[in-house]
Amino acid sequence: MEIESAGNEMRNLIIRKETKDDYYNAEYMTKKAFWNLHRPGCDEHYLVHLLRGSADYMEDLSRVAELDNKIVGGIYYSKAYVLDGNARADVLTFGPLCVDPDYQNKGIGGKLLEITIKEAREQGYKGIIIFGEPGYYPKHGFKTCDRYGITTKEGKNFDAFMGYEIVPNAFGDIHGEFYESEIFEQLYTDRVEEYDKKFPYMEKLKLPGQWS
Ligand SMILES: CC(C)(COP(=O)(O)OP(=O)(O)OC[C@H]1O[C@@H](n2cnc3c(N)ncnc32)[C@H](O)[C@@H]1OP(=O)(O)O)[C@@H](O)C(=O)NCCC(=O)NCCS
Repeated sequence: MEIESAGNEMRNLIIRKETKDDYYNAEYMTKKAFWNLHRPGCDEHYLVHLLRGSADYMEDLSRVAELDNKIVGGIYYSKAYVLDGNARADVLTFGPLCVDPDYQNKGIGGKLLEITIKEAREQGYKGIIIFGEPGYYPKHGFKTCDRYGITTKEGKNFDAFMGYEIVPNAFGDIHGEFYESEIFEQLYTDRVEEYDKKFPYMEKLKLPGQWS
């Protein structure tokens, strides 16, 4: 168990592995963090549920944040790779990373990142590639993947597509197209809506700034 102090208010913050008893609370926290953020409603709580059952899920690296016996954040890692012709290089990805809206901007997201990146380094992993908030991750050392010669599997680059070199020059000899777990493409609307019934009702709203 890793105990972290991120300021007085956060003195009881614990960053630790998730247990089965956390599943519901962690998913509900995820729902609250993403609800109406990128689109009306969200599917990230269902994604967390699917990921845990996937062979690509990396339980050893994923962590939840607990504060005063409440799950207030989580980061979920999975296996991914970069393909260059026939050459395949394994990398990490994570998603979701989220913090309960009542506890955001207190350093919890940063702690989840910092601790898991340190753990990934100790476990010998070299690089992380994500689709994420372009305003947030550069503060933590992430850079857009165009500079590494890594594209999405569709051959694209954009600000939200970023990489982090866990060891210096990790992407020096990794180039090509990025593939994440197929789980990320299995978030079918009807299944998301059925799964969402486990959690308290929240109204779906169309808001400015959403992607869709
Ligand atoms: C993004 C998120 C994980 C950050 O965690 P957090 O604990 O709230 O953030 P931290 O306390 O570690 O960092 C706070 C800093 O990040 C900035 N920040 C927080 N969320 C941000 C966002 N979405 N975009 C840009 N900057 C952001 C804050 O302004 C603050 O900046 P400052 O240090 O210059 O004042 C959290 O806000 C969250 O869950 N958001 C909703 C879900 C989400 O967008 N997840 C990321 C998906 S890729």
